Amino acid sequence: MQFNYLASLLILSNLVSGAIVPQAAMDLFNFVEEVELESNLNLDYINSKSFEDLPLVNTTELQELITEEALLARAEKLYEIAQFSNKSYGHPTRVIGSKGHWGTIGYIKHELKKLNGYYNISVQPFKAFMSEIYKINATINDEIPKSLTEMDMSPSTPNKEPVYGNLTLIANNGCNEEDYIGLHGNIAFIKRGLCPFGEKAQLAARFGASAVIIYNNEQGDIRGTLGVPPEGVHVAPCVGISKDEGDLIASKLSNGEIINAMVLVDSFVGPITTVNVIAETNHGDDENVVMLGAHSDSVTAGPGINDDGSGTISLLEVATQLTKFKVQNKVRFAFWAAEEEGLLGSNYYAENLSVEENSKIRLFMDYDMMASPNYEYEVYDANNIDNPKGSEELKNLYIDFYNSKGLNHTLIPFDGRSDYVGFIENGIPAGGIATGAEKNNAENGEVLDRCYHQLCDDLTNIAWDAFLVNTQLIAHSVATYGSDLSDFPVREISDNVNSMSFAYRGDKLVY
Ligand SMILES: *[C@@H]1O[C@H](CO)[C@@H](O)[C@H](O)[C@H]1NC(C)=O
Ligand SMILES: *[C@@H]1O[C@H](CO)[C@@H](O)[C@H](O)[C@H]1NC(C)=O
Ligand SMILES: *[C@@H]1O[C@H](CO)[C@@H](O)[C@H](O)[C@H]1NC(C)=O
Ligand SMILES: *[C@@H]1O[C@H](CO)[C@@H](O)[C@H](O)[C@H]1NC(C)=O
Ligand SMILES: *[C@@H]1O[C@H](CO)[C@@H](O)[C@H](O)[C@H]1NC(C)=O
Ligand SMILES: *[C@@H]1O[C@H](CO)[C@@H](O)[C@H](O)[C@H]1NC(C)=O
Ligand SMILES: *[C@@H]1O[C@H](CO)[C@@H](O)[C@H](O)[C@H]1NC(C)=O
Ligand SMILES: [Zn+2]
Repeated sequence: MQFNYLASLLILSNLVSGAIVPQAAMDLFNFVEEVELESNLNLDYINSKSFEDLPLVNTTELQELITEEALLARAEKLYEIAQFSNKSYGHPTRVIGSKGHWGTIGYIKHELKKLNGYYNISVQPFKAFMSEIYKINATINDEIPKSLTEMDMSPSTPNKEPVYGNLTLIANNGCNEEDYIGLHGNIAFIKRGLCPFGEKAQLAARFGASAVIIYNNEQGDIRGTLGVPPEGVHVAPCVGISKDEGDLIASKLSNGEIINAMVLVDSFVGPITTVNVIAETNHGDDENVVMLGAHSDSVTAGPGINDDGSGTISLLEVATQLTKFKVQNKVRFAFWAAEEEGLLGSNYYAENLSVEENSKIRLFMDYDMMASPNYEYEVYDANNIDNPKGSEELKNLYIDFYNSKGLNHTLIPFDGRSDYVGFIENGIPAGGIATGAEKNNAENGEVLDRCYHQLCDDLTNIAWDAFLVNTQLIAHSVATYGSDLSDFPVREISDNVNSMSFAYRGDKLVY
């Protein structure tokens, strides 16, 4: 193991804030204390004159500099870093708060700092929420529901013990206070839909429910999240069941049947400070910023080499090769943290922009999962009616790229599963590509990423040909917009944003 690049790790005085500090976080704290301090994040900026001598970035030339060997070497490095977590987690992971994630942050910064002042590198700390569900259980009429699923960010039932009660059917979708009249000290039974799961769990708690069971309003299991708990607000422990099981129980309850239930949730939900890394070119028009991002973190279950080690690596490699050119417009690379906890880093960044900073960002491009083993070339189906103007032009750039290489592409829903959400919600045109997660490939019927969010998302879980093509696509997007935005729609400043248009925030449903 080489620890030299960890010298660039940042010490955050309030690295672990808040009340609940798991052992892993304490281990991490000690670990970060051990590495060399870096007191000054500012770089020695190169005299901007030297950039003038470089040729203007050219897509053909930039793409030619991308090689499979370089991507492989970086993937090996990331896997090595993921193993820093072995001691605390028993397996490689780059989940926020782990040594594997701090190691990733250190690696990103180290790789960018090697580039002789081409980039202004900054680190943006923010408070994220970790959620680990260790165990759930439930019974309805003394039987365990077959479709029982956990709800991310659910608190534990008291003392991690089961709570018992009679089910109370909540009126409508449980989005209004009136729906809860008559509920007290019971287990709330609520239909999915109309408002976020988190709102239902808060309302239920306020009306005295000891736990909540949410049943689906469409086929399939609920894979949901309660979202970040608002400060000082009590949230009831929550689990989910399917529509088929739920509808049956709901009809019995509405016929006046008494149905007993038990719910058990054993979980950890706690605040943890982590960081986004932002690197922008030190030259280029700062009134016209071209922005792109990938997430630096993985889920707890595994090392996340495809999700989103691949995007992180692609961005680092494009950022490295870009230094051989000059750009017309400022290019800003973002490495988000806590994507897997619900897009927290990118949301924090986008929401925290001043009106002026926001207005300078011409577009945001999301690169999450570039090399699924059984990939399809997916393009987010953005448009200029539902999304900020320019989102459609970006989509068309990707389509044209795949067409020009004779490759098929698939349009996929622009429904909130990755870090573009915060940008769209704050009026910034966005789009992106991916290669697929749990969906099946239309051509061969097999799952696109068999190791999605699992321990086996390792070096064997990468399609190297797709990785190369998509990194070239990223190079193309940077070269195109970094050199010329004259054909790209000008920014429209509007605050008319409907956040409920996104069903997901990351891989979990929010309502
Ligand atoms: C980009 O580079 C290629 C290869 O060197 C060259 O053929 C092409 O003309 C260049 N494009 C522009 C717009 O300069
Ligand atoms: C980390 O754990 C994995 C098993 O998940 C193992 O294959 C690997 O050898 C371990 N690495 C180190 C450095 O302990
Ligand atoms: C570098 O980036 C930081 C963070 O965005 C910004 O505050 C600072 O002004 C930038 N420095 C220069 C010289 O552009
Ligand atoms: C869930 O609860 C039921 C009823 O108490 C019990 O029989 C079952 O063993 C529990 N399952 C687990 C995995 O603890
Ligand atoms: C559940 O309902 C039954 C029948 O009305 C009642 O006897 C029992 O006390 C109720 N249990 C709870 C925990 O309220
Ligand atoms: C961004 O966050 C910082 C730190 O929390 C805060 O001081 C600043 O006011 C925020 N800016 C905006 C525009 O939200
Ligand atoms: C594109 O899709 C068509 C129809 O499914 C298929 O016949 C063709 O082989 C595909 N081409 C590539 C390059 O994958
Ligand atoms: Zn991801």
